[in-house]
Amino acid sequence: MSFQRKGLIFAKIYLPGMKNAILNILFILVLNISFLQILSAQKRSIDQKVDSVLNLMTLDEKVGQLNQYNDDWTATGPVTIDSNKVSQIENGKVGSLLNCMGTERTRKWQTIAMKSRLKIPLLFGQDVIHGYKTTFPIPLAEACSWDLEAIELSARISATEASAGGINWTFAPMVDIARDPRWGRVMEGAGEDPYLASKIAYARVKGFQGDKLGDINSIMACAKHFAAYGAAIGGRDYNSVDMSNRLLWEIYLPPFKASLDAGVATFMNSFNDINGIPSTGNKYLQRDILKGIWKFDGFIVSDWGSIGEMINHGTVKNGYEAALSAITAGCDMDMESRSYTNNLAQLVKDGKVPVGLVNDAVKRILKKKFELGLFDDPFKYCNTDREHKELNNPDHANAARDVARKSIVLLKNQNHLLPFSKNIKTIAFIGPLVKEVNQNKGFWDVSVPGVDSSYIVSQWEGLQKKAGNKTKLLYAKGCSIDGDNKDGFVEAVNIAKQADVVILSIGERRDMTGEAKSRSNINIPGVQEDLLKALTTTGKPIVVLINAGRPMVFNYTADNASAILYTWWLGSEAGDAIADVLFGDYNPSAKLPITFPLSVGQIPIYYSHFNTGRPAVSDDNRFYNSSYNDLSIYPKYEFGYGLSYSTFVYSNMLMSKKKMNVNDQIEVSVTITNTGQYDGEEIVQLYLRDLVGSIARPVEELKDFKKIKLQAGQGKTVTFVIDREKLSFYNQKLQWVAEPGEFDLMIGASSRDIRLRDTFELTE
Ligand code: NOJ
Repeated sequence: MSFQRKGLIFAKIYLPGMKNAILNILFILVLNISFLQILSAQKRSIDQKVDSVLNLMTLDEKVGQLNQYNDDWTATGPVTIDSNKVSQIENGKVGSLLNCMGTERTRKWQTIAMKSRLKIPLLFGQDVIHGYKTTFPIPLAEACSWDLEAIELSARISATEASAGGINWTFAPMVDIARDPRWGRVMEGAGEDPYLASKIAYARVKGFQGDKLGDINSIMACAKHFAAYGAAIGGRDYNSVDMSNRLLWEIYLPPFKASLDAGVATFMNSFNDINGIPSTGNKYLQRDILKGIWKFDGFIVSDWGSIGEMINHGTVKNGYEAALSAITAGCDMDMESRSYTNNLAQLVKDGKVPVGLVNDAVKRILKKKFELGLFDDPFKYCNTDREHKELNNPDHANAARDVARKSIVLLKNQNHLLPFSKNIKTIAFIGPLVKEVNQNKGFWDVSVPGVDSSYIVSQWEGLQKKAGNKTKLLYAKGCSIDGDNKDGFVEAVNIAKQADVVILSIGERRDMTGEAKSRSNINIPGVQEDLLKALTTTGKPIVVLINAGRPMVFNYTADNASAILYTWWLGSEAGDAIADVLFGDYNPSAKLPITFPLSVGQIPIYYSHFNTGRPAVSDDNRFYNSSYNDLSIYPKYEFGYGLSYSTFVYSNMLMSKKKMNVNDQIEVSVTITNTGQYDGEEIVQLYLRDLVGSIARPVEELKDFKKIKLQAGQGKTVTFVIDREKLSFYNQKLQWVAEPGEFDLMIGASSRDIRLRDTFELTE
């Protein structure tokens, strides 16, 4: 790196002098060549080291490297209890453990691994999905920020803390596109759109892995679940997926490719079958696409037990066939199914699996162990002092608060009820989530050993701190999250009557969305909306906070609350972040990365649909058109939607030209002016539509966005570049092409709120 940097600095200082130009270029070339040589020498030397270890290994030891066991923490599937774990590790039969945290515990297991014949260090994998000790907003919430820097920082801090706690591998980011909010895992990704999700996938991988693997605060990332897991039929977890290759390549694969481009070290395959072939045994996905076309040189881990689950899928008869199917398809490591450990050596001996396949998988895993520096120091991540320091770093909380504020979506703000004036006298803070602590953490929080949850800022605490002595806070729970008991309504209404304004905090329980948490009913549970109904009788203005992991259906609230903040699950700093937004210390800027349906019957609904032969263009135009007779054609809240306390005016769209060829570009600029009274941020979105294609193209596709800060009254010009890449799509032969013809250009504040439009032409 430093060589290349030196080259660049040199270029900056000396290039203006024409006389020296040739000399300079030569010098830069020499530096860059030597840099490349060093890189390839380093690579060679790791490859050589890997080979030298491989040469020493017995077949059993090789299979051992492909075997991952669960330790004692949270299991997300059947655990194959093995009383011989210690002796298996001592005998080199385990390559990695998952769910083993803390320097003390990881040191214990690594010490045992060091007793094995070849002393190959263990990898410690963990679901560090939205934080380690510091809990960040759930990934779908963070995606609402469209703030790639903040998202990368959140992953960076998670990696810093996790690596200090003995972990060197996270099973994140989950980059599955999800268009069905019934699917519980929708909370774990970045929503419905391949462009936005790819940008976020890239940022997350960079955040987890830092500058390079081997740095003390970098951990391996894992792009999961390969592939198309988010398209489970009916949004039912673990369900089958049936999709065309075009849809796979165009919508579901791009975030995986973006992860690869960011240098992701590992991939995880998925539970689902796709067109009848389980992903775990899917050669097309793993060997042909990932390791073939994309040249991925890291390794693939199965999902929990997914090799063995191919027996249930009905594509293999037993563990022996399951192992054969998975290794042939390119799955390198077996998470918890024991199919490899029980069968792989025999498969090689029977001549069913060439040893070369096993060697390749082992080499991929060893290589990552070398890159992490574990062969130099197996206890590198087991430093108790560092653990203590990083788990108590106050900067982490500040970053968590910042991204939490950026994740809150303002859905409604009647009569500018928000932000509250600092002089407000009495607030009634009502609802089952007001005083909750752990709920704020969301589904995939990590139970870090020895850390209690008292550092989480509850919503009550956050508001108390913000309101200080000037504002009186009243509290009533009102009801529970679910159940039908309304006994608390009377007290809640009485309290509301005494206040100037009511804040009602309702939603799901955090464990209602997540893995294995698909739901057929995504209304706000229990009697919570009835509580709102009761409170509206007071005539007081009501701000509703909706806490959830998925888009919910809440039409009564949407139509009757005065203001709504969709707070998702915001993590450790939830209370402070919410208070910041309520009182205007942060002006909300988030926009939805996923469509909010009007009802479950509208699912799947997403903004980038095809026009169809009979498009419905408005609710008055449903006669024999593609729509439901009993439902609007519009969602409740569209992709890209989100309000601010300010207003932004879009004007003055200028295009550098109206025609381009594939090697050309068009620059488009627009002026955005903050016409409100508050400083704020706006996410300016660029959508395109290819009007006539060899296959149908979506009515609009997000192709770029810019998040800009504007002081009250300030205007700024934003420029986008339209190039061949933005105009390309997969044609019938799955070729990535840009076809000549006319395009619609749309710039807006959401996918429906298009403020400026024009057209341009791509010429032959
Ligand atoms: C199953 C989940 O599908 C996967 O995402 C997770 O990483 C593993 N369990 C390990 O917990």
